[in-house]
Amino acid sequence: MLDQLETLTETAQAQLAQLESGDALAAWHGHYIGRKGELTQLLRRVSELPPAQRPTFGQRANQLKQALEAAYEQKASAIKAAELEKSLTEGSLDVTLPGRPVSRGRLHPSNQTLRRIYQIWAEMGFQIYRSRDVETDEMNFQLLNFPPHHPAREMQDTFYTTNPDVLLRTHTSPGQIRAMRDFYPEPIRVILPGMCYRNEQITARSEIQFHQVEGLAVGPNIRFSDLKGTLINFARRLYGEGRPVRFRASHFPFTEPSAEVDVQCFLCDGKGCRLCKYTGWLEICGCGMVHPTVLRNGGYDPEKVSGFAFGMGPERITMLRHGIEDIRYFWGNDLRFLEQF
Ligand code: PHE
Repeated sequence: MLDQLETLTETAQAQLAQLESGDALAAWHGHYIGRKGELTQLLRRVSELPPAQRPTFGQRANQLKQALEAAYEQKASAIKAAELEKSLTEGSLDVTLPGRPVSRGRLHPSNQTLRRIYQIWAEMGFQIYRSRDVETDEMNFQLLNFPPHHPAREMQDTFYTTNPDVLLRTHTSPGQIRAMRDFYPEPIRVILPGMCYRNEQITARSEIQFHQVEGLAVGPNIRFSDLKGTLINFARRLYGEGRPVRFRASHFPFTEPSAEVDVQCFLCDGKGCRLCKYTGWLEICGCGMVHPTVLRNGGYDPEKVSGFAFGMGPERITMLRHGIEDIRYFWGNDLRFLEQF
C-alpha cells in the first residue's frame, strides 16, 4: 500500500506539471486530493494495515499529501499569473491611452438669448403665450389694422401658401389677437415668442426667418408711462443698471402712439463706433399703446381697458451682444460658428 501511495503521488505530480488552465487544475484537485480524491481515499484505508505498519504509512502519507497540496498552491498562482498576462496582451488594452473626448452639445445662440429674455420677463410677471407660425391674412394683417393693399404690408414681404388667405406669420403680433380672444375678459401680461418669416432677399442684415418676442399687457388704466417703465426695467436687466435708454416716436398700424426703443451703445458708451453706426445708440425694440381697433378686434372694450405691446428680435440682440456681423450665420449650421457660444 505504501508503494501504491508513492506511485499515485508520482502520477499526480507529473500530471500537475502539465496543467495549463484553471479548469483543469480544479479537476486535478478533485481527482487526487479533494474529499473524494484517490489520495484521500487511500489514506482512509490505513486501518486495513497491520498496526505495526500504520505509523510509518501515516507519516509518509501526510508528507506526500502536504507536498501535493503545496505543489497545487504553487501551480494555482502560476496559472493565475499566466492567465492575467494573457488577457493583458491578447486584449491589447493600452490603459495609458488617453480617452476619446465626448463632444458636448450646446444651445443655439438664439435659444440662449431667448432663455435669457424669458427669464427676465418671467421675473417681471409675464407668462409665455405660444401662438402659431401659420396664420391667416386676417390675423397677421387685417385685425392689426393693415387693410388690404395698405402700403405698410409691403414692409413685410410675405410667404403665402397656395391659399392666399393663409400665410407664414411675418411678425408675432397676430398672437396679440389670439391671446386677447383667449384671455378675455381677464387682464393680460404675456410674451409671445416665436419664429417669423419674410420673403426677402437674404443678406448680411436680413434673413427670411428670424425670431421675435412680442409682449402684450392689457388691463384697466395701463398708460404709456407703464410701457416706458416696463421696457426701461427690462433693458436695465438685460444691459446693466446704468445703461441709458431712449424712446423715439415711430409708427406701427396696430399701436398708437408708437415708439422705438434704443439703448446707449455698450461698445463705445455713446461716443459713436461701427456697431452703432456712429449714432451712439442701438435700436432694441418697437412698441406702443395697443390701438383701440386692435383691442376691439381682440374682444376688449377700449373705453374700459388699455394696453401696451412691444416686439424685439433675439437674433439682433445676440448680434449686438457678440459682435456678429452677418445674420446668415444663425441658420447656416456651421459648427465653427455655433461652437463659439
Ligand atoms: N410687429 C412689429 C414688427 O414686426 C414690432 C412691434 C410689435 C411693434 C409690437 C409694436 C408693437 O416690426
